Order: sequence, then structure tokens, then C-alpha cells
Amino acid sequence: MSPRKSLFWLLTLALLMVGGGRESQLRIGKAINIFLRYGYLSISMRVIPLNDNAESERWVFKEPTRNIYRNLSGLAESHEDTTPGIFHGDFHMEFCENRRQLFQAYFRDFTIDRMDKPWEAFTGGWFPDNAAKKLGINTSFIQGDYSYVLVRVVRFRETGRLNAEIPVNQQLEPDVRSRIEQLEIGNLTSAMRFMDVVGTHYVNSYTTGNSLYQVFVYSRKNYRMIKDRIKSKGLNGLSKLDLYNYFAPWFAEHLGQIRSASANATVERWAKRKLQYEYYVVKYVTLLKLHGNSTLLRSLDALLGNDAILQLDLKSLNPVFREQPEKESWFHEVLDNNMKLWELNMPQSHPSR
Ligand SMILES: *[C@@H]1O[C@H](CO)[C@@H](O)[C@H](O)[C@H]1NC(C)=O
Ligand SMILES: *[C@@H]1O[C@H](CO)[C@@H](O)[C@H](O)[C@H]1NC(C)=O
Ligand SMILES: *[C@@H]1O[C@H](CO)[C@@H](O)[C@H](O)[C@H]1NC(C)=O
Ligand SMILES: *[C@@H]1O[C@H](CO)[C@@H](O)[C@H](O)[C@H]1NC(C)=O
Ligand SMILES: *[C@@H]1O[C@H](CO)[C@@H](O)[C@H](O)[C@H]1NC(C)=O
Repeated sequence: MSPRKSLFWLLTLALLMVGGGRESQLRIGKAINIFLRYGYLSISMRVIPLNDNAESERWVFKEPTRNIYRNLSGLAESHEDTTPGIFHGDFHMEFCENRRQLFQAYFRDFTIDRMDKPWEAFTGGWFPDNAAKKLGINTSFIQGDYSYVLVRVVRFRETGRLNAEIPVNQQLEPDVRSRIEQLEIGNLTSAMRFMDVVGTHYVNSYTTGNSLYQVFVYSRKNYRMIKDRIKSKGLNGLSKLDLYNYFAPWFAEHLGQIRSASANATVERWAKRKLQYEYYVVKYVTLLKLHGNSTLLRSLDALLGNDAILQLDLKSLNPVFREQPEKESWFHEVLDNNMKLWELNMPQSHPSR
């Protein structure tokens, strides 16, 4: 094992062991400390396959969280989409010039207040070979001069959100109140301690469900061509033949495997079986078969469970300081500086990797 890899595993183990004692449930209004696993958030949130593929584990979210306010449930709403006979989701394509845009596209629906590149909180710690595995493509195609199209079919099941701003007089948990008292303006240690113990952000909204996705890898030249064609004509303006042609193994450099966000083996087996396409002697699986096929989409609707997080909006914890604006701005200053430091120090930020 290379020293870099051993370091990665050490770090991963260390990250898995911290945070004991708190709860870990995806609930509206609960706080997390994003720095605890910055760059590795997909270890504790089911958003993309883990490399070990432990299918027996059924968790969706195991990031430690804590309650900030008492009795917030009256402000939170959630609902589930179960109407039979329709597909609750969408089919979309994202055009990505390079690997970074591919990461960004995958995490498009994940937002972290005051962070410019929220996807890096999930991908910053990825090495090329595990990034490739998660995305279902061969490692050689994650580096080098390639462009990508991410095709994804998403099935939304449960959404939760805060349906109003947190009222000024909402009662804080007593220990949070005392932590706010202990925060000293200008004292970095005390701000860091606050973030460790209370957190940096709270869950403002989330959507769970599952998705199927496939990454198509192109040379720059072919990528530009299909991007222009699809942009000018629209997906539905292309003939079926053209569409299949652009996403075929003879036009793309590489077709990724079809993966589900939760790495659910049942769903992935279904895709392998049902989404096979045969053109003369060439046989391959393609997510394009789902495009415009309501019969297939309906079967998929039933199959995609509630195993993954599809969208998450984290808001910064500033409302807890509303009565003390100086403390609020000190908290924000430390939060912003830390985010910048983390963004700069993640391995992915270095162009050689
Ligand atoms: C909790 O909040 C709801 C509505 O927000 C309110 O009706 C109820 O009285 C509150 N309960 C307590 C114990 O404060
Ligand atoms: C991708 O990797 C798999 C497994 O290592 C291999 O069987 C396959 O031939 C590779 N495909 C391409 C296009 O390199
Ligand atoms: C800063 O805060 C920490 C933790 O709250 C405390 O131990 C330390 O004494 C403080 N430093 C100063 C200079 O007040
Ligand atoms: C939808 O897919 C099924 C199964 O592959 C196929 O039999 C059917 O012809 C497709 N329908 C359309 C409208 O393409
Ligand atoms: C995988 O998906 C199937 C079909 O929706 C579901 O029955 C099963 O519980 C899922 N497995 C896991 C580990 O979530």
C-alpha cells in the first residue's frame, strides 16, 4: 500500500470512530458539524455507493446530529409520494466538460450555506480509483482529457422541510444556550469548540428516495458535437436513432455501469436485465431505454425504494445567535475562514490529482 493510501484508510477509520454519543438521524432542524467529515461526507450519508458495498446495512444517514431547539416539530413538514400508476421523479442529463463538473453535477441538489463548492464536502477526499468505482466507470477514464454526460433517473419518495422561519422566541435546548454563553468573541478556540459540540449547520430540507445513473465518457470532440446537437434540438427533437447513436459504445469512449445511489443490488440487477440494448452484434446496457418509456418507468417507480438521500439543504447555525449579533458575526467569520481552509487543503484541489 502506498503511504498516501494508508493515510487515507487511517483517516477513514478515524472518521468512522468519532462522533459517538450523539444521535444520527436525518431530521429537520437537527444540527451537524460539517467539518467533522469534510471531504468524506458520503461515508456517513447514503448518497452514492460506498466502496465496500455492505448491502446488509440499511442506514441512510449516520452523521451525528443534535437538537438545537425544543419542540421544532410543529414547524417541520414531511410528505411521501406514493400515488400509484405514475413515475414520481425525473429523467435528466447533465453535460460535464471535465471531472470536477461531473462531481458537481452529481451533487447538484446538495447545498451547504455559505459554501461555494458544496460538492467538495462529499468528494474532496476521493482518490481517482474510488471516485471511478462510485461513478461506475473505469479508473482510466476519471483522469485525462475526457468529458462526461451524467444520465440519471431519480425517484423521489420522502421530502421534509422547515415550513417557516424559526421564530425569534423559539426555545433553545438548555445545553445549546449555555454553549452560546460560553462563546467568546475573538476567541478562536471557543468558536471551534462550539462547532465541535453544537455544530455548524442545521438541516433545512431533504429529499430521500433512490436513483439510477450512468456516466458516458466522451472525447472532447464528440462531447462538443452532441452537446451542440442536444442543445439546439432538445432531447425530444432528436430521432431515436440519433439519440441511441450518441450514447452508443462506438460514439462514446466508454459507457459506465448503471448504478443506483444506494448501491441496491436488486435495483442494479433489474437495470442490467431490463435495460439491455442490442444493435446487430453489439449488446450493452443503457439508461436511455428509460427515456420516454412510461411502462418501464412505472416498474422502476415501484422498485426504487427509500434508501438514499437525493437532496439536502444545510443552513448555517446563525439563527441561534439572533439575540447577540456580535457573536453571530464572530461565528460566521470563523465558519467562513474554516470553509476556505478546508476547500484549499483537500487533495482534489491539487491539479496533479
Ligand atoms: C410545540 O409547538 C406547537 C406548535 O408549534 C405548539 O402548539 C405547542 O404548544 C408546543 N408545545 C410545547 C410543549 O411548547
Ligand atoms: C473496465 O474494467 C473492467 C474490469 O476491470 C474490464 O473488464 C473492462 O474491459 C474495462 N472496460 C474498458 C472499456 O476499459
Ligand atoms: C478561549 O476559549 C477557551 C475555551 O472556551 C478557553 O479555555 C480560553 O481560556 C479562552 N482564551 C482566552 C484568551 O480567553
Ligand atoms: C418500453 O420498453 C419495453 C421493454 O423493454 C418495450 O417492450 C416497449 O416497446 C418500450 N416502449 C416504448 C414506447 O418504447
Ligand atoms: C433494495 O431495493 C429493494 C426494492 O425496492 C428493496 O426491497 C430492498 O429492501 C432494498 N435493499 C436495501 C438494502 O435497502
